[in-house]
Amino acid sequence: MSGLTLALTKGRILDEALPLLERAGIRPLERPGESRKLLLDTDQPGVRLLILRGVDVPTYVQQGAADLGIVGRDLLLEHGGEGLYEPLDLGIARCRLMTAGPVGVPRPAGRIRVATKYAAVARRHYAAQGRQADIVKLWGAMELAPLLGLADEIVDIVDTGRTLRAHGLEPRETIAEVSSRVIVNRAAMKLKHRLVRPLLARLAAAREEGA
Ligand code: PRP
Repeated sequence: MSGLTLALTKGRILDEALPLLERAGIRPLERPGESRKLLLDTDQPGVRLLILRGVDVPTYVQQGAADLGIVGRDLLLEHGGEGLYEPLDLGIARCRLMTAGPVGVPRPAGRIRVATKYAAVARRHYAAQGRQADIVKLWGAMELAPLLGLADEIVDIVDTGRTLRAHGLEPRETIAEVSSRVIVNRAAMKLKHRLVRPLLARLAAAREEGA
């Protein structure tokens, strides 16, 4: 039970997480992306990094395959967060989880078709409004769905809004403010607290330094 495995989300979050990790004293021995390796040693003995798709990070941490993870709140809301501690908001990769639809087109009065990869979030959102929603589960390029008649609205993350505008869509409701969070496996929090606590403190300090 020695060492710590930290699961990182590849893409935008990784770009912002690596400088933060560096400020916290953790540097991968190889630059992620330079090799094809998805499991990287660091300059901290016993600390390893996993480079994963965000959607898999909560699963790795929940199952104990990783002790900690860095993942967007959007995916935590979709996953449910069961079996996970969420001790720290890193304040990076900020965006919003929103509904969006074609500019100037009113929502249909009855059932609404919603394309999204956030099926659970979308179901809860429309149910809370008392609306019947048929969810069309997609894995990417949600913005195309209204354009091609696959859906009336989408639920997706919005950062600058450029992707929406490029597809004739407008943001409608904000479902959640999103940033990246540190998550910790419940057993690791107890059994490895001597390693986990100081790392969380260093990450919190690195967040303040970067603010
Ligand atoms: C997200 C999202 C949009 C885009 C929004 O995709 O799905 O496509 O970013 O950003 P904008 O408001 O600045 O245009 P991302 O690039 O994270 O890739 P993904 O589709 O793999 O989530």
